[in-house]
Amino acid sequence: MKDYILRAAGIKKSFGGVEALKGVDLEVGRGEIHCLAGENGCGKSTLIKVISGFHPADSGTIELDGKQFTRLTTAEAIERGVQVIYQDFSLFPNLTVMENLAITMELSNKRKLINWTRMRSIAQEAMSKIGFKADLTERVENLSIAQKQLIAVCRALLYNAKLIIMDEPTTALTKKEVRALFTVIKNLQADGIATLFVSHKLDEVFEIATRWTIFRNGNNVATGNTSELDDKKFAFYMTGRNFDEEAPPPQPDRSKVVVEFDRLSRGGSYQDISLNVYSGEILGITGLLGSGRTELMQTLFGLTRPDSGGIKINGAKARIRSIKDAIALGIGYVPSDRLTEGLFLPQSIGRNMIVSSLQRFAGQCAMLDMKAMNSEIARWTKELGVNTSDTEREVKTLSGGNQQKVVLARWIANNLNVLILDGPTVGVDIGSKYDIHALLRALSAQGLSVIVISDDLRELLACCGRIIVMRDGRIERELQSSATTEAELGEIAAGNF
Ligand SMILES: Nc1ncnc2c1ncn2[C@@H]1O[C@H](COP(=O)(O)OP(=O)(O)O)[C@@H](O)[C@H]1O
Ligand SMILES: [Mg+2]
Repeated sequence: MKDYILRAAGIKKSFGGVEALKGVDLEVGRGEIHCLAGENGCGKSTLIKVISGFHPADSGTIELDGKQFTRLTTAEAIERGVQVIYQDFSLFPNLTVMENLAITMELSNKRKLINWTRMRSIAQEAMSKIGFKADLTERVENLSIAQKQLIAVCRALLYNAKLIIMDEPTTALTKKEVRALFTVIKNLQADGIATLFVSHKLDEVFEIATRWTIFRNGNNVATGNTSELDDKKFAFYMTGRNFDEEAPPPQPDRSKVVVEFDRLSRGGSYQDISLNVYSGEILGITGLLGSGRTELMQTLFGLTRPDSGGIKINGAKARIRSIKDAIALGIGYVPSDRLTEGLFLPQSIGRNMIVSSLQRFAGQCAMLDMKAMNSEIARWTKELGVNTSDTEREVKTLSGGNQQKVVLARWIANNLNVLILDGPTVGVDIGSKYDIHALLRALSAQGLSVIVISDDLRELLACCGRIIVMRDGRIERELQSSATTEAELGEIAAGNF
């Protein structure tokens, strides 16, 4: 029989009228790495709080390390080896690394004097367990998010954790930091410590988890081994929607050149670029770091200037010396890091949608026409399928995919000739990714030119008619999506052709 560290069965939990959990099950084997997935609001965090004794369940049972509970307290959960690393890590920012690691242990000894030598050795031991190095006297507020997370892991180990639960641990990490965290999780597994981690990202599930469970709307949808999962199934379980093959991109109108690059060069960024982008075309651009693809598009958007060569928009020579010039010419740009560059997070969803077209709503005396503004916001929310009941809410409350739709709405609300998207679906859930691609097709069918910069070759093949591969600042090759493959594109970008 399988040895479980956690078995939760038939867990129900309501908040007022909201049924967050409608009778879910979750089993995690000893030393197992288990991924819990599901769209925002499906009940993942609530279940974690039930397992850790923070919320009492309305009904259902929880078995931890062989012992069954109907009413679990936080002390009992900790005693059975459950440790949760919340998104804010619950660290004390103004204390040092050493104090964060050792102070609760030291205080619980009920001695009057704090023994600094003991604290230092407790902290060092915890850090050495996962091979983590940091200056013990550094204040935690000065550390990076990834370092704080590892300190939280160290602290969990001090409590003899048998199951470490991480609620969306990778959202704020770089790829390299995610790798490092995964190494730590695998090392913990080698010591028999199980990890339950929440993620929406299929590639992460494949990389780290042996088993997975997916929730939807407070229900268990499916659970299984990673080896039995593929992206279609994952998408279906997450959203309840079936994602058919995507429709092909619309045919561009080759008689209308919207953007023309004419022998454009800029220092070490890109050289001698000549390229036409047509009306109604979705053009893909890829290339490795240093290929010049992003720099080229930043020039089109007025963020940098070329040394030589020219750009024409709709056949007319364009002077693009600033973002303002670019916007006036109907050029839109959605940067790759929408969270820092693209959105005003504390502002409302509605405001974020129309911020770049606010001028249009300004009447005499600089008063905003609120009625026109609100109807525009309502129109875009509906047209783009932004999943929110209230556009007055802060935009940061939306999922990544829905935030991206808000960024798109902002640009489309302007009258555009060309829309540049840098990594339009990075970190976006599959349902939103599919919606965003469909939206790009609909826009280009109306004559808009779309330029998609992406590393995701499958994405480029799915939504672009033509793909440009750049390398070392030059256009290496131009291909029709219908006549190439992911493997070929990758080889060309790497210079192996
Ligand atoms: N403390 C709470 N009070 C009221 N409603 C809550 C509370 N915590 C969660 N909810 C609601 O329960 C549902 C599930 O939320 P949550 O477990 O946070 O989802 P997830 O972590 O999967 O995104 C949501 O509708 C959320 O609004
Ligand atoms: Mg959550």
